[in-house]
Amino acid sequence: MKTEIGKDLKYAKALLEQGDLVAIPTETVYGLAANALNPDAVIKIFRAKNRPEFNPLIVHCGNWEQITHFTAQIPPIAEKLAEHFMPGPLTLLLPKKKDIQDLVTSGSDKVAVRIPDHPITLSLLQQLAFPLAAPSANPSGYISPTTSAHVFHQLNGKIPYILEGGASKVGLESTIVGFDEEGRVCIYRLGGLSIEEIEKVAGKARILTHHESKPKTAGQLLSHYSPRTPLMLGNIETMVKEFGAEKAGILAFKDLNPVISPQFQRILSPNADTEEAAKNLFTSMRELDSMNLRVIYAEEAPEEGLGQAINDRLRRARYENKLLNVEDEIPDLPE
Ligand code: TXA
Ligand code: MG
Repeated sequence: MKTEIGKDLKYAKALLEQGDLVAIPTETVYGLAANALNPDAVIKIFRAKNRPEFNPLIVHCGNWEQITHFTAQIPPIAEKLAEHFMPGPLTLLLPKKKDIQDLVTSGSDKVAVRIPDHPITLSLLQQLAFPLAAPSANPSGYISPTTSAHVFHQLNGKIPYILEGGASKVGLESTIVGFDEEGRVCIYRLGGLSIEEIEKVAGKARILTHHESKPKTAGQLLSHYSPRTPLMLGNIETMVKEFGAEKAGILAFKDLNPVISPQFQRILSPNADTEEAAKNLFTSMRELDSMNLRVIYAEEAPEEGLGQAINDRLRRARYENKLLNVEDEIPDLPE
């Protein structure tokens, strides 16, 4: 199959209507979309991604009304969050109605829904008669794509079309929010909308642990978003001293390291701004991963704004997690 990149909305729409896949730009990361109401189309997503089939998919809608069509028992606090943050990097976990099949939710009675804040994809969604099921458009376990080139690089030959929408402006996947019996907010996945923003609107939120957030989902697997090059997380200066500078790359939050050539370094935000850092995170990881390095030394961002979500991704990208020798930290081992 030949994979094309373009801005042809009509073509994208036709492909989706006939049950084919289209990679779509969103403000968070690029998604790999199919008609959420057509199981034959949805199954193609799992195949293209090599994704374990127990992972549920986010259903992307064009407006709030469409969301209410597919979900039930929406708590008032969910509506309030939607008013503030939709379209945007917020995914709500809500009881599903029958139209949403088990294949999409992995058998869960809840469905994840969101309205992406990207003009091209919003326009596409508003022209379609169905919502789009879409995971991030990367092979399972690898870094999420934030440009059409990233998608092409990884899925070339596996999908017919990539809608061009420029670089994703947020750069981190959406924050997934669910609600407990009392209607309180629970965070299932840290992401592009900060906890502070959510709490301003919805009050104190509870961040769920790996144990608590069921069904087990890829976003909660500890080893995820990983580059192929071993990535170590800690104090960069110390790691350079201890493990050597030879063939080493650096993923720093704000400062260049004096020992290693700048060509092998990526700075997430020279201004120490966590939003800017989030936007650069996945591209920087990919660039370093393509340099044939022995190791990548990375450091955490400050735990404010999007810093928590960035650190969550960095921890999952760590080499140690791939070695699976940290069982205390991994309640449910991936793959
Ligand atoms: O920003 C985003 O959310 C991007 C863009 C493309 O919208 N999508 C994305 O999808 O990150 P994905 O599939 O890579 O991650 C979605 C996460 C997964 O961890 C999945 O298991 C979880 O959401 N999820 C989806 N539906 C769920 C459900 N019904 N219950 C619990 N978790 C769910
Ligand atoms: Mg993903």
